[in-house]
Amino acid sequence: QRHLISAADLTRDDAVLILDTAEEMARVADRPIKKLPTLRGRTIVNLFFEDSTRTRISFEAAEKRLSADVINFTAKGSSVSKGESLKDTAQTLEAMGVDAVVIRHGASGAPYRLATSGWIDAAVINAGDGTHQHPTQALLDAFTMRRRLVGRDAGLGQDLSGKRITVVGDVLHSRVARSNVDLLHTLGAEVTLVAPPTLVPVGVETWPCEVSYDLDSTLPKSDAVMMLRVQRERMNAAFFPTEREYSRRYGLDGDRMAKMPEHAIVMHPGPMVRGMEITAEVADSERCTVVEQVANGVSIRMAVLYLLLGGNEPAVTHARTNEE
Ligand code: CP
Repeated sequence: QRHLISAADLTRDDAVLILDTAEEMARVADRPIKKLPTLRGRTIVNLFFEDSTRTRISFEAAEKRLSADVINFTAKGSSVSKGESLKDTAQTLEAMGVDAVVIRHGASGAPYRLATSGWIDAAVINAGDGTHQHPTQALLDAFTMRRRLVGRDAGLGQDLSGKRITVVGDVLHSRVARSNVDLLHTLGAEVTLVAPPTLVPVGVETWPCEVSYDLDSTLPKSDAVMMLRVQRERMNAAFFPTEREYSRRYGLDGDRMAKMPEHAIVMHPGPMVRGMEITAEVADSERCTVVEQVANGVSIRMAVLYLLLGGNEPAVTHARTNEE
């Protein structure tokens, strides 16, 4: 059984194949009828134990564009609120005959557990687990970078070798940062994390990236600057940075954006907290790709589903055997 659990499981060739396949899928979105028959007769469950806007809706759009039958499950309003376990929930879905489960969960490792437990036969796709991984987010970010920094056609078959990517903010709680560091390194990019010392994870020195505490000196050397949300819901209230202090040192406003090279882009996975990590002026500027990232997310998720369930190429690797 093939799954997509972590961006770290992807080889360079896996990742480039997904990005190239997503370019083909994007052409479908340009047609008057945006559907392919590829997954007709296949059933996919979107199993969301944590809130989501972009990921949940774009997986659903991707599944429908590939003609799959879609079942949406959110923990709120389900028997999870009565104490039902992940195992029993998964086996209930298995009994209904699902081919793939897209899972978002607050616990790091939940998708890995589902994929390796033997509870279900379905393919498992991680849609974000705790502070661990969000592989399709990293793929859609890489897709956006490749299009903007290399070119839509020129980028086919290419990686991100030599591109300098700066990731700014609450790295400690960010599965997006972890997934991006893994995937961008695999694709040949140079990654710098910029964060307050209290929001840098223990062990970051083993990650394949640089760490800086000075945003202003990093911006002129960046081809893309990815801003992260401060995840207050994962923090003890005593450790909340004040908005004013955080913005002063780590927020991106118009003056800071002007320090970036002219070709450089501003990215954000969403949801944004305007005023905290990014000003409205920057969020609404032409250099900010946040809406483009959402659109690209549908193409990436179509590509992943196609390669896992419908394609013949060995695109996405087996789940890792070492639980993190
Ligand atoms: N980027 C992202 O994962 O957004 P959602 O939480 O809205 O899915």
